[in-house]
Amino acid sequence: MLVLGIETSCDETAASVVRDGRVLSSVVASQTELHELYGGVVPELASRAHLERIMPIVSRAIADAGVTLREIEGVAVGNRPGLIGSLLVGVAAAKALAWSLSVPLVGVDHVHAHLFAGMLGRAGAHGAGEGGPTSIEFPALGLVVSGGHTSLYLVQSWTEFKRLGATIDDAMGEAFDKAAVILGLPFPGGPNLDALAQKPGANDRAVELPVSRLGTESLDFSFSGLKTAMLYEVRGVPGKPDGAPPAMTETRRADLAASFQRAAVKAAIVKLERAIERGPRDAGGAYRAMIAGGGVTANSRLRRELAELATKRGLPLVIPAMSLCVDNAAMIAGLGEVKLAAGERSGWELAAAPTTGG
Ligand code: KG4
Ligand code: ZN
Repeated sequence: MLVLGIETSCDETAASVVRDGRVLSSVVASQTELHELYGGVVPELASRAHLERIMPIVSRAIADAGVTLREIEGVAVGNRPGLIGSLLVGVAAAKALAWSLSVPLVGVDHVHAHLFAGMLGRAGAHGAGEGGPTSIEFPALGLVVSGGHTSLYLVQSWTEFKRLGATIDDAMGEAFDKAAVILGLPFPGGPNLDALAQKPGANDRAVELPVSRLGTESLDFSFSGLKTAMLYEVRGVPGKPDGAPPAMTETRRADLAASFQRAAVKAAIVKLERAIERGPRDAGGAYRAMIAGGGVTANSRLRRELAELATKRGLPLVIPAMSLCVDNAAMIAGLGEVKLAAGERSGWELAAAPTTGG
């Protein structure tokens, strides 16, 4: 089925065409330069930029795919979660296109779509998920780690997701971005911190930073303690006269980046281990696959440790190709195609919502 996907949940305007789980085109227009000046995404500026860019981006995705708009058989749109003004632009565009083409419309949860990203094979290339969207066995354990979300899921099928836990404060990507600011690294924080942590000689044991576990039973995450510990390492402990930090040198900066990355990745791995031990209680039996997605799955250390954990536990690992870790519309089109094939349809009343559906 030839599906057009639209994604406008935050500051990326994206459109993609997917057929049978293969990405024919994926166009992402980042608004980074628009928000950089303010140190974060300004919602009003984001919606206006989406409005200006959405139709040219859709046209490009159609042209890059080598198809025509008339051939599109379904339209998928990320309708939640995200910035409401941004989501509305994508939802309105998707409705208008689906209505004018007389094809079905389906709303896709952006967080679920991050999990699906690893299933997408690129047309003509041997990327992740070459086996196509039907090749995974369920139940699977899913981890979404992005700038806005950090959650664990029991995935029983591509249309049944149950959230097992989520962050109680910062998302993992947000923690990377804040730690990068504390270290004085330029935007974008996460990838720059990753690069610094990989510098030859960077010692990931230089500083012992806290790994949050919460309660012994908890599958939730917390990254604010780690972020504060990092702040104290760089600026000193407030009210403690002897708490002055060591001088910041290039070596110490790299050591701190590596130590932070080790602790942050460990916090994710600890919860995955815990969830695997517990098993998919409601579904019975044991997990048969591990799925990861979201911007932070581009992190070199997380990718390595996820692969190690999957091997240790004998689970196949589904993880996106590097280009599909961060926000994109291919993951929306891909999961949308599966939903449409399963008979799911959204009505013209499809609403944008700031929160995930679960
Ligand atoms: O999935 P995404 O594009 O947006 C949300 O849905 O939130 O994720 C963006 C996040 C940012 O916080 C970014 O710093 C982080 O992913 N990120 C990384 C890396 N690449 C992107 N974090 C750590 N290491 C990376 N290599
Ligand atoms: Zn995202």
